[in-house]
Amino acid sequence: MCGIVGAVANRDVVPILIDGLKRLEYRGYDSAGTAVINGAGVIHRARKPGKVKELEAEAEKIKLHGNIGIAHTRWATHGKPTQSNAHPHICRDKVAVVHNGIIENHEELREQQKKQGYEFTSETDTEVIVHQIFHHMDQGEDILEAVKSAVKELEGAYALGVISIDDRDRLITARRGSPLVLGIADHEYFIASDVAALIPVTKKFIFLEEGDIADIKTDGFTIYDMDGNRVERKIHESKLNADAVELGKYSHYMLKEIYEQPLAITETLEGRISNGKVLEAAFGPEAAGIFDKVQGVHIIACGTSYHAGMVGRYWLESIANIPCSVEVASEFRYRKPVVRKNQLIVTLSQSGETADTIAGLLEAKRLGFGSSLAICNVPESSLVRESDLVLMTRAGPEIGVASTKAFTTQLVAMMLLVLVLGRRHGMTDETERNIVTELEQLPRKIENALLLDDVIKQLSVYFADKHNALFLGRGANYPIAMEGALKLKEISYIHAEAYAAGELKHGPLALIDATIPVVAVAPNNELLEKLKSNLQEVSARGGRLFVFADTSVDVKGGEDAHILHVDSIHDSVAPIVFSIPLQLLAYHVALIKGTDIDKPRNLAKSVTVE
Ligand code: G6P
Repeated sequence: MCGIVGAVANRDVVPILIDGLKRLEYRGYDSAGTAVINGAGVIHRARKPGKVKELEAEAEKIKLHGNIGIAHTRWATHGKPTQSNAHPHICRDKVAVVHNGIIENHEELREQQKKQGYEFTSETDTEVIVHQIFHHMDQGEDILEAVKSAVKELEGAYALGVISIDDRDRLITARRGSPLVLGIADHEYFIASDVAALIPVTKKFIFLEEGDIADIKTDGFTIYDMDGNRVERKIHESKLNADAVELGKYSHYMLKEIYEQPLAITETLEGRISNGKVLEAAFGPEAAGIFDKVQGVHIIACGTSYHAGMVGRYWLESIANIPCSVEVASEFRYRKPVVRKNQLIVTLSQSGETADTIAGLLEAKRLGFGSSLAICNVPESSLVRESDLVLMTRAGPEIGVASTKAFTTQLVAMMLLVLVLGRRHGMTDETERNIVTELEQLPRKIENALLLDDVIKQLSVYFADKHNALFLGRGANYPIAMEGALKLKEISYIHAEAYAAGELKHGPLALIDATIPVVAVAPNNELLEKLKSNLQEVSARGGRLFVFADTSVDVKGGEDAHILHVDSIHDSVAPIVFSIPLQLLAYHVALIKGTDIDKPRNLAKSVTVE
């Protein structure tokens, strides 16, 4: 999604703005822009379609400098990714605005403003905001009052950065429905869509709350809540370091994040298991009371997080003996589901800012779900703040659009939930002990799975010129096949589908020939023999198999088949380990195809609009 940055300081802020945009670029990246008030007191702007580095070159070329400024990376929603649609938008050389979110009543406002004589230079929903602010300033309000008045007339979601030549040292920011942090340093202040954008300049942050408006100058800031009252907000010290978002020795963030999984999982487990048991306090002081009442679980999520939820359903029913349903948040929020008593709503999200997941949670609360748990990677995100219970995945910042370490840590977190609920529903201590032991061994098992990297790299050549691929799995590994297919399609642009292997005969078998690689995950479990039969059906029809199998498993798939062995693993945690080779496969295929791996076309890391 779009990302915004803003700064007010006693030095040139352009390098800070550009660096911040680069750090936010993973959220959306079809165009970028920045505007400052320069030494002559004039709004000076640079905008460019494409990447931030193009904006950087333009800013250098036109000698853009100023002590106060705002900046934006755009992921187009209303209007194409052109220069004129790129932010900041300016009204009559007096006010400039950057915006993340969607203004739902923009058509109505646009009509009204056109009648008032305002000229539109873009197709965006954002431009109505800058005109509306100007309109209020024109009626005598100062910039703060004008922003306060204008946001009351907006419907939808926004995080805003606003500057005006009438108040040259004042940066106004406002948020509703879109994330925004205020960064605090010595006589300099910053705003951004997330903490990672500002880490090189400060570690101190305020997470602005829903409806907050802040008035920021070099000598301090004032925050007003949605009712206009002055409020104090807590200052947080971030533990992120700039290195966490640097590439280091890796060529792509995705590869770096794949390799970070053993460490990320160690972090997810840290302090949460002990003596063969999950420590319930990990879910918060109120968790035990809430879990005692839970009779069913409903999971909502989007994209990769949804696949983690699907694995969770298999586990919750088979291990914890508790009924569970799972669905994509964009469907749930409008479906009018029937709520059973004492059902726990669980949201899964890397960012905690996915608009559909947040809206789904709010809808669940409205419908009367018992209580809510967020499994999330970003502390203080909207989802975290809205939930009764929270379990942080602690994967660290994930920059690659294609989620990897966030996914496997979600699975680990999900298993912790399964165990604490399971012990209330007849699961034995022995089962818990065994699974905890498996969890403890996961980092090492993943290290071993990563050793397949070179072989997978060689195999990926076979995929790079194909147009389609099929992924197969059964049981809790069926969602892993889905995730493998999603990874391949999103970064290599090869059409990939996943099927529960038992469904093969009901349609996809018709597609099988030598041009469609078929990837399967084959852990050693009670479904293995059935999976093997499904694989025979593929090879008998000339399909080329790529099977990732447990070392203890003997799979035959015809002369052309490639069988890759993954360290022997217990069935309970197999989905976590089998995710790794599929991530590597997608990565290497995309590498050969030369796609933009960390920022695949048309996709965004965090989808903060509907
Ligand atoms: C986008 C990202 C995916 C992610 C999904 C859900 O589509 O590109 O990688 O899985 O959003 O995001 P969340 O932050 O809620 O997990």
